[in-house]
Amino acid sequence: MRRSLSAGALGVALVAGVLGVPGNIAHAVESPDISVTNAKAHLDQFQSIATANGGNRYTGRPGYKASADWVKSKLDAAGYTTTLQQFNTSAGTSYNVIAEWPHGDANHVVMAGSHLDSVSSGPGINDNGTGSAGVLEVALAYAASGQTARNRLRFGFWGAEELGLLGSKYYVNNLPAAERDKIELYLNFDMIGSPNPGYFVYNDNPAGNSARDDLTAYFTSKSVQTEYIDVQGRSDHAAFRSLGIATAGTFTGAEGTKTSAQAAKWGGTAGQAYDPCYHRSCDNINNLNLTALDRNIDAIGHMIWNYAQKDYGSGPPPGGSNLLLNPGFESGAVNWTGTSGVVTNSSSKPARSGSYKAWLQGNGSTSTENTGQSVAIPAAATAATLSFWIRIDSAETTSSVVYDTLKVQIVDGGTTTTLATYSNLNKGSAYVEKTFNVLAYKGKTVTVKFLGAEDSSLQTSFVVDDTALTVP
Ligand code: PHE
Ligand code: ZN
Ligand code: ZN
Ligand code: CA
Repeated sequence: MRRSLSAGALGVALVAGVLGVPGNIAHAVESPDISVTNAKAHLDQFQSIATANGGNRYTGRPGYKASADWVKSKLDAAGYTTTLQQFNTSAGTSYNVIAEWPHGDANHVVMAGSHLDSVSSGPGINDNGTGSAGVLEVALAYAASGQTARNRLRFGFWGAEELGLLGSKYYVNNLPAAERDKIELYLNFDMIGSPNPGYFVYNDNPAGNSARDDLTAYFTSKSVQTEYIDVQGRSDHAAFRSLGIATAGTFTGAEGTKTSAQAAKWGGTAGQAYDPCYHRSCDNINNLNLTALDRNIDAIGHMIWNYAQKDYGSGPPPGGSNLLLNPGFESGAVNWTGTSGVVTNSSSKPARSGSYKAWLQGNGSTSTENTGQSVAIPAAATAATLSFWIRIDSAETTSSVVYDTLKVQIVDGGTTTTLATYSNLNKGSAYVEKTFNVLAYKGKTVTVKFLGAEDSSLQTSFVVDDTALTVP
């Protein structure tokens, strides 16, 4: 046999089998104490970068690029998949740093972000070294935690916020619509260590109300009272909110003045700004309240640990609902039955997406192999389409004789219907998509089956990926 079921495929299948049961109640996840000592060390780094680069980390100046490079290097070392996304502004080139934890369901993305740039007048330690240090430390802690994320975690460090939210706008404007739809939540952190702090929770997006309530409940559980604030278009969540994405965030205050009622519940100085150094040169490493920072980074950790595990269901994808489970084979052989070893992440054949696919035949000897999945097509379906991608390579050289075949079949009880037969004559280097109308099977439970057969010599490989049986 040319290949066997890899240990990796078995491991993935087992994990998916235990954790991937639809409808499992997600238990509240206990999140660790996020180290304020580590977050403070990140702020020291931002201060050093500013000091070494003319006193700021402003767009188009070397202190910004140095900040972006440093954050990216930390995330790279922790195992994130990172992207430095470049864009142009009137002040010069800027960059977003995007970091994705390469685990969990890529169809359900949970994001947190912060702007990484300062104004030109100072180092920007509270605005927004604090949000950046907090999001970075949570990302690093998550990577080190050994947690198995159910969903896909992504962290954004935005450039040019101070020029009008340019980085976050650039990011969302360049996301394909299908990718926007996968973002379940965006959490924003901009100024979370103000020296005369308030404890504000964003309240400007009804789609984010449950995340808002989770943040509020977290602070309440730590005996910290919060107030809602309508931040509207004043920070980077606005770009996400305008796409209809759920957003939430926290804030410890900028140029606004703390009231005496607020000073009574939060301490600090009434009649003074939450951050008297807001957008000034004195927003340096001394312009911090580390208790406020500590509480806010723990809140970020609480949200990330919990939303990483949240059950968003399989949900109908845009354009219809795919009735096939594990349709791209990325969970290994889960939900597919047939010849063992067919579902594989072997590097010998490319997947169309991800790394797994169904590789039938390719033995170069007399043999048959199959894989299939049972699926119930609703009686009320008004349309039903079977689709998949297939790539066929063959050592056969004939242009007229069929030696090796792959049949696509619908097994309906004792009746098997062959929708199509591919062979060595259909070989080609690219994946091609095939679609079939299967509405005739509405109200039935049928098996979608791929059945291969080879003759005694010269291999033909039929590689199938990204299957779908879609109903509207
Ligand atoms: N985005 C503002 C800035 O960077 C600060 C701010 C954050 C104001 C959140 C309101 C709410 O200058
Ligand atoms: Zn600012
Ligand atoms: Zn800011
Ligand atoms: Ca795949």
